Amino acid sequence: MTVNILGIETSCDETAAAVVQNGRHILSNIVNSQIDIHRPFGGVVPEVASRKHVENIGLVVEKAIAESGLAYADLDAVAVTNRPGLIGALLVGLSFAKAFAYGINKPLITVNHLNGHIYANLLEHPHLEFPAICLVVSGGHTSLLLMQSESDYQLVGATLDDAAGEAFDKVARFLGLGYPGGPAIQKTAESGQAGHYNLPRVFLNRPELEFSFSGLKTAVMNEWRKAQQRGEANVEDMAAEFQAALIEILVGKTMQAAEQYQARSIIMAGGVAANGPLRELMTRRGQEMGLPVYYPSLSLCTDNAVMIAAAAYPKFVQGRFAPLHVNAQASL
Ligand code: KG4
Ligand code: ZN
Repeated sequence: MTVNILGIETSCDETAAAVVQNGRHILSNIVNSQIDIHRPFGGVVPEVASRKHVENIGLVVEKAIAESGLAYADLDAVAVTNRPGLIGALLVGLSFAKAFAYGINKPLITVNHLNGHIYANLLEHPHLEFPAICLVVSGGHTSLLLMQSESDYQLVGATLDDAAGEAFDKVARFLGLGYPGGPAIQKTAESGQAGHYNLPRVFLNRPELEFSFSGLKTAVMNEWRKAQQRGEANVEDMAAEFQAALIEILVGKTMQAAEQYQARSIIMAGGVAANGPLRELMTRRGQEMGLPVYYPSLSLCTDNAVMIAAAAYPKFVQGRFAPLHVNAQASL
């Protein structure tokens, strides 16, 4: 049987729609990013994001269906992110999805955004080995999950304060590198060298699977001010040291979790998993431990609707549909 699912994603600053067949085959993938609109503000302005989603959602969905080559009647369900995210932004996608599903007389499926990020891996690497440790690193989340199967997860570690992506964004803003911070820091760090400044690898030597990034951010500010006073402030070197510290913490804790739970593979999901040096270091440490490391291709790491349609497929198979009065949730 062929199942075609239309996915819709509006939880933050991308308006996205995609059609995916049987949870595996991407028929279309449209992402309309609002980055240029939010850039002058140094971050996402929630009210502006909601308004832009309203303007774009119809066109983006229309384009995703047109590029899939399917007719409305060929769609089997409408999947949409309804949690977690910016509440106004979520509501635009959810309201549209409800109306569209009702209009074409097909079921509605709601998807947890983080689950979507994980499914970007399952879509591209269908044969990955369980149990797996999954590092979810996005703008809003930093968590370690123990996955016994595609659908059975348990939270085994998380950040006590800022998310990794949030730390990238805040430090980039502080250093005047612009928004979004992750790609800006990665690029700036390429011409710098880690080790010229000295930032803490917070919690790396503790047995608990917890992260804390707000102290790292404060350390950047202190080191930077001291360097400025000495007349030795070099933004490339600071970006390189910050990125190195953050990545060593992420990789170190992931390996610790893999060892503790005897994982057979490691998975990375979320926008920060697009970071090149993070992908390299995780892969290298994984090889040292004999563990395969999986992450999505770059276009499926950051927010998209392919991952939402893919995550909805098992729910479709199990008949887990949402009623039309289902609501959005800002947090989990
Ligand atoms: O998953 P995502 O697109 O949206 C959320 O669900 O939050 O993640 C966005 C986050 C931002 O904080 C952004 O700075 C970060 O992912 N990011 C990166 C890179 N690309 C995006 N962080 C580090 N290196 C990158 N190359
Ligand atoms: Zn995301």
